[in-house]
Amino acid sequence: MTSSPIYIATVSAPTNIACIKYWGKADAHYNTPTNDSVSVTLDQADLKAVTTVAASASFTNDRLWLNGVEEDVSQNKRFRACIDGVKALAKEPERWKDLFVHVSSYNTFPTAAGLASSAAGYAALVAALAELMDAQEEYVGQLSTIARQGSGSACRSLYGGFVAWKQGTAAGNKSPWDNSMAVQIATEQHWPEIRALILVVSDAKKDTSSTAGMSTSVATSTLLQHRIKSVVPERMEAIEKAFLAKDFEAFGQLTMKDSNSFHAVCMDTYPPIFYMNDISRMVVRIVHAYNAWAGDIRAAYTFDAGPNAVLYTLEQYAVEIGALMLHYFPADSENYINRSDYANEVAAFELDSALLAATDKTGRSPTAGDVKRMYYTQSGPGPQVLDMDQANLDPTTGLNTYAP
Ligand code: DP6
Repeated sequence: MTSSPIYIATVSAPTNIACIKYWGKADAHYNTPTNDSVSVTLDQADLKAVTTVAASASFTNDRLWLNGVEEDVSQNKRFRACIDGVKALAKEPERWKDLFVHVSSYNTFPTAAGLASSAAGYAALVAALAELMDAQEEYVGQLSTIARQGSGSACRSLYGGFVAWKQGTAAGNKSPWDNSMAVQIATEQHWPEIRALILVVSDAKKDTSSTAGMSTSVATSTLLQHRIKSVVPERMEAIEKAFLAKDFEAFGQLTMKDSNSFHAVCMDTYPPIFYMNDISRMVVRIVHAYNAWAGDIRAAYTFDAGPNAVLYTLEQYAVEIGALMLHYFPADSENYINRSDYANEVAAFELDSALLAATDKTGRSPTAGDVKRMYYTQSGPGPQVLDMDQANLDPTTGLNTYAP
């Protein structure tokens, strides 16, 4: 028990999956990218990070619990940058500046498996601190420049819908890289038919972290330089246009090509980095066979720094593509698909025999176990402030209460 008051706030934040990928740092200290990127923010009803922060004069050091387990943050520069960054924007900075902070955060999906858990986690951390300390942005997007220092992709999770991360400039507007920030291109209401189906190919921790992988790519890949100069700028423009025009054909094609470009850069890195595996590549083949059978693009795959597939599609095709994936990657566990209503529709859907004849040509035969889980979701809003009863820190002791 403690005599000093404990101030507390809880926020949830979404993941995001990039369509044009961030890969490469221009400045490792400020954590800024070598190119612009853009992503869809996913719905927190299906995947989210929930973070409680507390500050009190009775705390003796900064502490962090991740999924219920305490981590040593004494040397963690990313965590430090987020706390100090938000403290500097507090409405009453004097009130917070000397207080230590306790943080408890958990994800509703596998951590560090290429499912953007660090994006949701750092976005939730910054949003929760901002809520606790009543942070005041001096310009729109300033909080995203803080989240960026936690994890680059986290800056995009501060907004809903379709969100770009503008590379920014070393000189910035007033201070270095203060314009390397997230910008919302469209809200989640703009294209409400967009859906995402995530195939969890492996929930093991990945071998090469994004941070280490991109640093080796910057040092060794000539293809990355070509991507930065000649590929991404045009694609950014084209995909923003496609999203605003709700042109799935263009959006899907650009998304798939950019995922392929990113993984080609990984292959061009020396020594090469392999994030996709045989199952990932089989999903690519099936999606292309499906689109060829349909005569237009109904599904678009994208892969981050791990083997999991994210398939973007439209509401009208979501059951068909789900049924196709379930056919080739059948369930081997209960609650294999996160949403039961969707799972029922998918299980009952009868696939066209000509479609199956076309996708069988990929060489895939239905085998359980290669995909561990599927998440069906859509685009959603940015961080949400939650009630006190959702806190994962004890309001009287400031200690973690979350158990997985
Ligand atoms: C492949 O944001 O995890 O998912 O800034 O070093 O924390 P750090 O990297 P991180 O990298 C994400 C890479 C990606 C592409 C993307 O999300 O744009």
